[in-house]
Amino acid sequence: MTTRKTALITGATGFIGRRLAVVLADQYAVRGLVRHFARAKEVLPSAVELVRGDLTDAASLKAAVAGADAVVHLAALKGDEPDIVAVNVGGAHNLVAACKAAGVKRVINVGTQAARLPRRGAYGDTKAQADAVFAASGLEVTTLLPSVVYGPEDPGVFGKLVRLTATAPFVPVIGDGTARYRPVHLDDVCAVIAGCLRDPKTVGKTYAVGGPQTVTYDGLIEGIGAGLGRNPFKVHLPAPAAMLIARALAAVMASPPLTVSNVIGAVHSAPDADYDAVFTELGLKARSFPQGIKDSLA
Ligand SMILES: NC(=O)c1ccc[n+]([C@@H]2O[C@H](COP(=O)([O-])OP(=O)(O)OC[C@H]3O[C@@H](n4cnc5c(N)ncnc54)[C@H](OP(=O)(O)O)[C@@H]3O)[C@@H](O)[C@H]2O)c1
Repeated sequence: MTTRKTALITGATGFIGRRLAVVLADQYAVRGLVRHFARAKEVLPSAVELVRGDLTDAASLKAAVAGADAVVHLAALKGDEPDIVAVNVGGAHNLVAACKAAGVKRVINVGTQAARLPRRGAYGDTKAQADAVFAASGLEVTTLLPSVVYGPEDPGVFGKLVRLTATAPFVPVIGDGTARYRPVHLDDVCAVIAGCLRDPKTVGKTYAVGGPQTVTYDGLIEGIGAGLGRNPFKVHLPAPAAMLIARALAAVMASPPLTVSNVIGAVHSAPDADYDAVFTELGLKARSFPQGIKDSLA
């Protein structure tokens, strides 16, 4: 009997991590780095081995990577929180050190297109620094930079837009709604991660990851509306006003509902890049935006 290789997922309880744990279970013994066992048990399949840890706790990462064959690094703070540097940048340093100490070479580092914007908030900035840490690590790293990831049960921006479109009399849009993205379905992102783990040719490469269609912010809401059979009324909030609100909220709240990074992400298009290359190289095909919306709302 051959023993299966072990893949550690950091951020296993998150939007992408929960789905990835299911997808990777076909090929790997899946281990999840989690902060809270009770929450992890609620959202992850029982076959996932749970290791309690935190990106800011170097010792916990050493225990988490011990004996792993590969690491998929998803864990991150995304809301410009006060400890975002310690988690996103310090965490990258801690994870690289833990992998080196344990002899774990293969890492899929999941970054973001927000790290490539000309103007960045704390989220994009710390993710860019983390990418640099992995690039300089000497490990066998593949870095993936997705545009907006959407899918069922999304606690993030897409999920909020779905809930608003379904229930609210209007949907607020930051800026004029013309910023363009390459939204990519959660399952397609997970297929890319699994494909990269399988294919050694992806080592040392950085890939943009996006769906086949360019979609504006307004188009995202209209697509959700079409999927829900509703015609959402959009109210555009000027970007400078949204930025003032985000800055004011940041002064008084640790986890504000609107962040400077949200505003930057809403008014800047995803950078030009070859979003299809990784799908072509891996022999995969990302689903169309209308199909992805259907799959997300089913
Ligand atoms: N979703 C998107 O549209 C999108 C787009 C591009 C790139 N990405 C990237 O993809 C990755 C995953 O995104 P996601 O949407 O799945 O994020 P998410 O739903 O916000 O999940 C974040 C995960 O990180 C964990 N985490 C946070 N702080 C931690 C810490 N100090 N130590 C250990 N774990 C910690 C969280 O654990 P708890 O459950 O304990 O909070 C959670 O499992 C991120 O790196 C993000 O930058 C996401």
